[in-house]
Amino acid sequence: MAEQQRIVINGGRRLEGEIAVQGAKNSALPLLAACVLCGGESALHNCPRLSDCDAACRILECLGCKCKREQTTVTVNASVIKGTEVPTSLMREMRSSIVFLGPVLTRCRSCRLSFPGGCELGPRPIDFHLAALREMGADIEEKHGYLECTAPKGLHGARIALSFSSVGATENIMLAAALARGVTEIHNAAREPEIVDLADFINKCGGRVSGAGGSTVAIEGVESLSPCEHRIMPDRIAAATYLCCCGAAGGELILTDVNSGDLRPITAVLEQMGCSVYSYGKKREENNIFINLHRPLISPGTIRTNVHPGFPTDAQPPLMALTTIASGTTVFVENIFENRFKHASELTRLGAKISVEGKVAVVTGVKSLSGAELVATDLRGGAALITAGLAAEGTSKISGICHVDRGYESIEKVLRSVGADIRRI
Ligand code: UD1
Repeated sequence: MAEQQRIVINGGRRLEGEIAVQGAKNSALPLLAACVLCGGESALHNCPRLSDCDAACRILECLGCKCKREQTTVTVNASVIKGTEVPTSLMREMRSSIVFLGPVLTRCRSCRLSFPGGCELGPRPIDFHLAALREMGADIEEKHGYLECTAPKGLHGARIALSFSSVGATENIMLAAALARGVTEIHNAAREPEIVDLADFINKCGGRVSGAGGSTVAIEGVESLSPCEHRIMPDRIAAATYLCCCGAAGGELILTDVNSGDLRPITAVLEQMGCSVYSYGKKREENNIFINLHRPLISPGTIRTNVHPGFPTDAQPPLMALTTIASGTTVFVENIFENRFKHASELTRLGAKISVEGKVAVVTGVKSLSGAELVATDLRGGAALITAGLAAEGTSKISGICHVDRGYESIEKVLRSVGADIRRI
C-alpha cells in the first residue's frame, strides 16, 4: 500500500544525466474528462502513469466508458454513457473530479456528484463552476452533500465573467460549452498552458474554441464531437521539480520533452539563484533544457505565486526547499491557496530556517541541511521534502508517499537514473 511506503534518501549525491519529462497531470485530467464529449474511441498519448489518472479512468468506467491503457497511451471509448453519477469515494480521492461535471451535464443533461469539500491546501470552493453552469441553463441543487444537476433542454451559451482566473472553472465551462447551443464567452479566463492543450483537443474533435491562452475564450457549441488522437503536453511542474532537485543536489541535468517557454517563470528564478539554464531543441518550441549548478546558491529575493504567466503555486514548495540552502533571505507570498506552507514545518526538521505568517513565508538560507524523518501531507509539499532530502547530509525518510504518487511517475526511479541515492521501502 502506497500509504505505508516511504522514500529513503541518502543526500549529497550530485545529479547528472537526462530525464524525459512525463506528460502533464493537470492536462491529462481535463482531457480524460473531455473524452466524455466524444461519441467514440479517443486516444490520449503521453498520459502519465499516476494514481490521479487511474482515478479519472475509474470515473469514466462508472459512467459506462471503456478505458484501456497501453504504456503511456490511454484509449477511452465513450460511445455509450450509461451512468451520470460520480461516486463519493472517487470525488474524495481526487478533488479535481469536479471537471467531469461540465462534460457529463452537457452530454447527458444530468449529473449527480458529491460536493468535493476542502482539501489539504485549505478550502477549495467550486462556486465559480456552479455559477457559470447555472448561467448556461443548468438547474443545480445542493442537497445533503450532493450536487444534483439537470439541464432538461440542454445547456446554452452565456457570457461568463470570472472574478478570479480559475483553471478548473475555465476548463469546466469550456467542456460544458463545447456541446451547448450558441456561443459561450469566458472573460478573465485562466491562461495556463493546460487550457491551450484542452482547446486543441476540443478543436481536433471538431469543436470551435478560440482565444485559449488569452484572457477571453470563446466557445461555439457544436452538435457533436468526434473522437481524436492527442499527445498530452509535457508536465511543467514535474519539470520544475526536477530542476529544483538538480539545484539542491548540485550537478548537471538535461530535461527532454519539455516546452521551455512554459517553464520560463521558473527558469528565470533559477537563473537569479545562480544556476545556468539553457533551452535548445529541434522543434519550433524549444524542447530540451540543460541546467548546471554553480554553488553557492543565492536567494532570488521575493517570490509571489500568481496565475500564469506568474510564478506557479505548484512550483512554490520545491523552490522553497531549494531556497533553504541559498544564501540570504527569500520571501514567499502565496497568492493562490490559503494553506500551502505545510511543508515548511517539515523542512525545519532538516535544519531549515523558515517562519510562516498567513500567506507569507520567510526563508533564511542555511549552509547545510541534515537528514531527518519527514511526513508528506500533500503532493507538491511531498516533492519539496524529496528535493530537500537530496540536499541534506545523511539519511532522510519520507512517509506519505501516496500524495507524491498522485503527480509524479515513479519519482524515485527517475531520480535514481540520474545518480540520486533514493529508494522506496
Ligand atoms: C488547478 C491545478 C492545481 C493548481 C491550480 C492553480 C489541476 C487539476 N489542478 O487547480 O494543480 O495549483 O490550478 O494553478 O489542474 N476558487 C474559488 N472558487 C472556485 C474555484 C476556485 O474560490 O469555484 C479559488 C480556489 O479556492 C483557489 C483559486 O481560486 O484559491 C485557484 O483555484 P483554481 O485555479 O480553480 O485551481 P484548480 O483548478 O482547483
